[in-house]
Amino acid sequence: MAIKRERWLNRPAFVFAAIGSAAGLGNAWRFPYIAYQNGGGAFLIPFFIALFTAGIPLLILEYGLGQKMQAGAPGAIARIKKIWEGLGWWAVFIGFIIMSYYAVIMAWTWNYIYAALSVAWDGKVLEFFYRDILNSTDGPLQFGPISVPVMIGLLLTWFVIWFILHRGVQFLGKVVLVTVPLPIILLLILSARAVTLPGAIEGLNYYLQPDFSALLDYNVWVAAYSQVFFTLSLGFGVMIAYASYLPRSSDINNNAIITALADAGISFLAGFAVFGTLGYMAGVQNVGVESVVEEGIGLAFIAYPEAISLLPFGAAFFGFIFFLTLLTLGIDSAFSLAESVITSLDDKFKVNRSILVSLVCLFGFLLGLVFSTGAGLWWLDIVDHFVNNFGLAVVGLLECIFIGWVYKADKMRKFINPVSDVQVGVWWDIMIKYVTPLILGISIILSLSERLVVPYRDYPTTSLLFGGWAVVLVLIPVAFIFARKKASRPDFLDRPSD
Ligand code: ALA
Repeated sequence: MAIKRERWLNRPAFVFAAIGSAAGLGNAWRFPYIAYQNGGGAFLIPFFIALFTAGIPLLILEYGLGQKMQAGAPGAIARIKKIWEGLGWWAVFIGFIIMSYYAVIMAWTWNYIYAALSVAWDGKVLEFFYRDILNSTDGPLQFGPISVPVMIGLLLTWFVIWFILHRGVQFLGKVVLVTVPLPIILLLILSARAVTLPGAIEGLNYYLQPDFSALLDYNVWVAAYSQVFFTLSLGFGVMIAYASYLPRSSDINNNAIITALADAGISFLAGFAVFGTLGYMAGVQNVGVESVVEEGIGLAFIAYPEAISLLPFGAAFFGFIFFLTLLTLGIDSAFSLAESVITSLDDKFKVNRSILVSLVCLFGFLLGLVFSTGAGLWWLDIVDHFVNNFGLAVVGLLECIFIGWVYKADKMRKFINPVSDVQVGVWWDIMIKYVTPLILGISIILSLSERLVVPYRDYPTTSLLFGGWAVVLVLIPVAFIFARKKASRPDFLDRPSD
């Protein structure tokens, strides 16, 4: 007997949850920095090409798969071809690894929210981040003790995720009605403040001025595709799980376009808030903007706080608002990653949801402790690089092959179009069967061949082997072990009738 599946309250609840999953830490610090590093304004060209050639077609694919098969990634794939089930588990486990360090970045954010009240980083941004919060060591092989502030932040993050998830997707649908619009409003406030600061224009020029020669560099294209995957939560199994809680007659195409464009808009907006403020700081310090732009994570936790402390007034207020924005952006992405694991396990194994949620949260917390040690930042950087560049793109490529060739793209399109407000044409089949896999394949080969020759940053080889290659590869046999396990739910392989 088929078990009745939980449902979203209504269409907006699903759309908000999907936008909430997509818009996260990736939009507020990753996008502005990646854009700046890869050609500034010209990066928008590969970014939007990636959005239309891979992002939207794959989002439609993931929504279609989850909604049609009414299961999370492993179940949905297994209902089409059992032998491919491992792909679903691999995607879900990659999402789980991402979630384990994502929650740690959120743990830093809690600390910064508290610190903002007294602008505690004033005059010592580097020391505050590396010593006071992270208690960072000099390299990945020197672990050092677990940082207490990070552990407390991690506990808070997992408590919030647990609190929301154990009540089920209906409750989650209510939470996102707050956690999606709130950071957008906060970002608008921050952007308005940023662009009215003296010197802001220099920062914005820096962010948006196109360097068209960057378009000839394949690394820029690889960066654009991996940013689109990360930011749209593609290849984690999240969007498949979320769509599985929709009735089979729900819209797909329009929901996918709304999610993708809203997410891109939030990224773009975040760039104004960040670079406008950095432009102001460069002006105050009488230096060029390039010398205040910190790399990656440092942009949000070093450069931005420093700029905030130089504001003519309201440093505590704007600091608080910025980190609250990061927290509210991140929280719905974090619980979506956990939900993907929970949905997938729940579909196959009969486990009480409360127990399952508690176990996943506990396990996520324990895994996060590795990233909370003194070496945590280095491991986080390594795992993030490998999982994003290889894990997500390979899952995306295999999803295209699976739906495009094994299941057949036109068969999926014939399911998607009749339920959707807007129709996709044969172009969608062409994207899924040829264009997207070809682009992903080329970008994987190029980045793989570079990575095999040039080690990532100057990390010791042992840490790259364990934190990089092993993390991505070990998940494959684990995924297949889960795929071979006997389902305890009798309807696990029952394909919903057409
Ligand atoms: N899509 C999420 C983000 O951008 C994971 O942060």
